[in-house]
Amino acid sequence: MLSIESLNQFYGQSHTLWDLNMQVPEGKCTCLMGRNGVGKTTLLQCIMGLLPVESGAIHYQGENILSLSAEKRAPVGIGYVPQGRQIFPLLTVEENLRIGLPARGDGLRQIPDFIYELFPVLKEMLHRRGGDLSGGQQQQLAIGRALVVNPKLLILDEPTEGIQPNVVAEIGDIIRQLNEEIGLTVLLVEQKLPFARKVADNFCILDRGRQVATGDMDELNDELVKKYLTV
Ligand SMILES: Nc1ncnc2c1ncn2[C@@H]1O[C@H](COP(=O)(O)OP(=O)(O)O)[C@@H](O)[C@H]1O
Ligand SMILES: [Mg+2]
Repeated sequence: MLSIESLNQFYGQSHTLWDLNMQVPEGKCTCLMGRNGVGKTTLLQCIMGLLPVESGAIHYQGENILSLSAEKRAPVGIGYVPQGRQIFPLLTVEENLRIGLPARGDGLRQIPDFIYELFPVLKEMLHRRGGDLSGGQQQQLAIGRALVVNPKLLILDEPTEGIQPNVVAEIGDIIRQLNEEIGLTVLLVEQKLPFARKVADNFCILDRGRQVATGDMDELNDELVKKYLTV
């Protein structure tokens, strides 16, 4: 569904992603892994068109989307939950959700009901300010906002970061539900190993801007974990 080929990215003079390859198969949940600072968020921002790319290709359903501006990437069917959630604290829950609407390809101007079915708490808190929600509720809001564009591919950057342990499992359940029941393809950045093992089908590990390992989740062995994931 999503295929990254020989991607190179620079921040000014600093070469950050190196000939990077990654496959995100349709219908699966793929976990992008690696220690802090290896380039995971940078790669996601390149996919979303938020950062310029030096060379390489990003194919989404067979089309090279590199020439599309950032505003044109959500309408092709990619939803994005950025690291740190980045909801608007002073806007209401409803206003935060509405922000995604113009990016829909079909002109729909109403928030789809399935989002409230998935996250009943958002419906209860529709008129509360985003900043007044708990961390877990804010994460649901950020996921809900990404779903407003009716994506086929959902990209989440560390959705459990800074979330209370009892809510982490809930977010895992939501991601599995989106993947297995609603049929979304998922690309997830996650550093918590048990969570990644539980939620994802396959993995792709980055180290210093390079892809160093990839495979089915049950092939993620202790050696790889020790070499590339533990601090
Ligand atoms: N806006 C930026 N300008 C310059 N360097 C950056 C910028 N954002 C990130 N970096 C650097 O790029 C590298 C990769 O960062 P990032 O993609 O955020 O890593 P990760 O998400 O894996 O923790 C890091 O060395 C980081 O310091
Ligand atoms: Mg990051």
